[in-house]
Amino acid sequence: MCGIIGYVGTDRSDAADVLLHGLSQLEYRGYDSAGIALADGRLDVHKRQGELSALENALAGAEIGNKTTGIGHTRWSTHGPPSDRNAHPHTDAENRVAVVHNGIIENYQKLRDELTAEGVEFRSETDTEVIPHLIAGYLEDGLDHEAAFRAAIDRLEGSYAVAAVFAGSETVYAARHESPLVLGIADDGTYLASDVPAFIEFTDRVIYLEDGEFARLEGDEISVTDSEGRLVETSIETIEWDPEDAGKSGYDHYMRKEINEQPSALRDCFRGRLDELSGRVTLEEFDGFELTPPVTFVACGTSYHAALFGAQLFREWGVPAHAYLASEFEAEAMPIDADSVVVGVTQSGETADTLRALREASAAGATTVAVTNVVGSSAARETDRVLYIRAGPEISVAATKTFASQQAALTMLAAALSDHRSRELVQELRAVPDRIQSVLDEDAAREVASTYADAGAYFFIGRGYHYPVALEGALKMKEITYKHAEGFAAGELKHGPLALVTEQTPVFAIVTGDGRRAEKTIGNVKEVEARGTPVVAVTDGRSEVGRYADHVLEVPPAGEITSSMVANVQLQRVAYWTAHELGRSIDKPRNLAKSVTVE
Ligand code: F6R
Repeated sequence: MCGIIGYVGTDRSDAADVLLHGLSQLEYRGYDSAGIALADGRLDVHKRQGELSALENALAGAEIGNKTTGIGHTRWSTHGPPSDRNAHPHTDAENRVAVVHNGIIENYQKLRDELTAEGVEFRSETDTEVIPHLIAGYLEDGLDHEAAFRAAIDRLEGSYAVAAVFAGSETVYAARHESPLVLGIADDGTYLASDVPAFIEFTDRVIYLEDGEFARLEGDEISVTDSEGRLVETSIETIEWDPEDAGKSGYDHYMRKEINEQPSALRDCFRGRLDELSGRVTLEEFDGFELTPPVTFVACGTSYHAALFGAQLFREWGVPAHAYLASEFEAEAMPIDADSVVVGVTQSGETADTLRALREASAAGATTVAVTNVVGSSAARETDRVLYIRAGPEISVAATKTFASQQAALTMLAAALSDHRSRELVQELRAVPDRIQSVLDEDAAREVASTYADAGAYFFIGRGYHYPVALEGALKMKEITYKHAEGFAAGELKHGPLALVTEQTPVFAIVTGDGRRAEKTIGNVKEVEARGTPVVAVTDGRSEVGRYADHVLEVPPAGEITSSMVANVQLQRVAYWTAHELGRSIDKPRNLAKSVTVE
């Protein structure tokens, strides 16, 4: 779990600036340490524990000269704690080669023992450090740079996106296996990175490297070869992301920007997919798709909450469906076979648990589907069908707009595949962006956040479609405020969690409409209120829940499915303003990373 970047300049010699800019766009992948290696006659390596700013400060006083070529890294620790020593790039003893790596080398201990026996002294606790030492060994055997790089990569087991530079050379070598790597071609040189925002400011022309492929960046030339060294014919794609989209656009935090982007993200998600006249949802990605129930969802974290929501929709429309936490999914222990449909819900498309579950399902013969935000991600490329949620880049570690877009995409998927036609649903979906905008335009969530910023814990309850939203409200609260928060199915409170509620623990109850579910949840709210616990109702005002609540967060009246999308935005805002009040690191909460590429 890290971000890597590489650059070979033709018309410019400010490689350090290009690398630092790229790393600033990749920090969402980890921020335990950052480093760069600049190549020239010799290798210049600079690295620092902590966020990128620590490295930038160190470089401000350093003599780095004009360099055209280099690699960089921003780290999320897996082997060895965050430290200067464990920061990438890693080099061999003679400083002939520098390497950056994203992923996990599974056989690193064996390789390390072997290298140690040969007299190599390791300077870090990382798995990555075996790579420069292996390369150095092959150089000593007489191989040239490229051959030594390939020979070292051949020895690795596990997942990796690796880039290397050599002293006395202006070429960057790269390879990938189960970790993302994209190449960029610009007028002023060639780039590689874990993700497009790292270089989108300089070029929108990209090549996605496939598993098992190698790349060589030399001046304005990129050559891609397969594991046998044969040249691979690549296709250059044009990316439509605007560099502005990857910036904060004047907001204090990406999270706030991304919460506020939800109306436009949802409009993009719905574009061309909803037909109001017939009440049909048309997903051209699923033309000719034969649905064989049941539908099995696999996902993690926020995406799992969206998957719970999606599974419920399928069931409501007559298709048996179930959502699993991807880390708990084992195709062998489940009735997964050639008739199964397994849907991975993953914003990044790179979450290791979800990818493993999808791969197992695929190996069992199942038809696999990815619901993802990232074009060209591993999930998108490895599954039989892909539904893009079209939310645009999400930088803040806490997922917000992608959850809304997942809910929207899964609603459309369930309607399309179950052939559920409803003009009312289509009209409601179209109205969601405006309804969310009305929530964004008022301040009630901020006031509630300020009232309860000192609370001991936060509880969230909901029924039906509001249950996944209760779970999501709690996850958002805990990850960015570092305070205890839990979501419950409203009816479960009385089976245990009620023992936790006190005057110091506000309970957020999501209650919309005036039907049976609303009535029952109000019963649970009364149980809470009777114990002197503050209640915050997220409601459309159609039930009497407001009578039992200390605060009301309003959502415009709508059906339960789309109300849950809007109610969630109120909870995102409460979490955001609570974290703001507490002075937390909102976009980069401690111990977390945007994309979790380890199991
Ligand atoms: C929470 C959050 C995580 C992710 C989870 C899965 O705000 O973002 O819980 O939802 O790590 O990530 P993806 O969707 O990329 O598979």
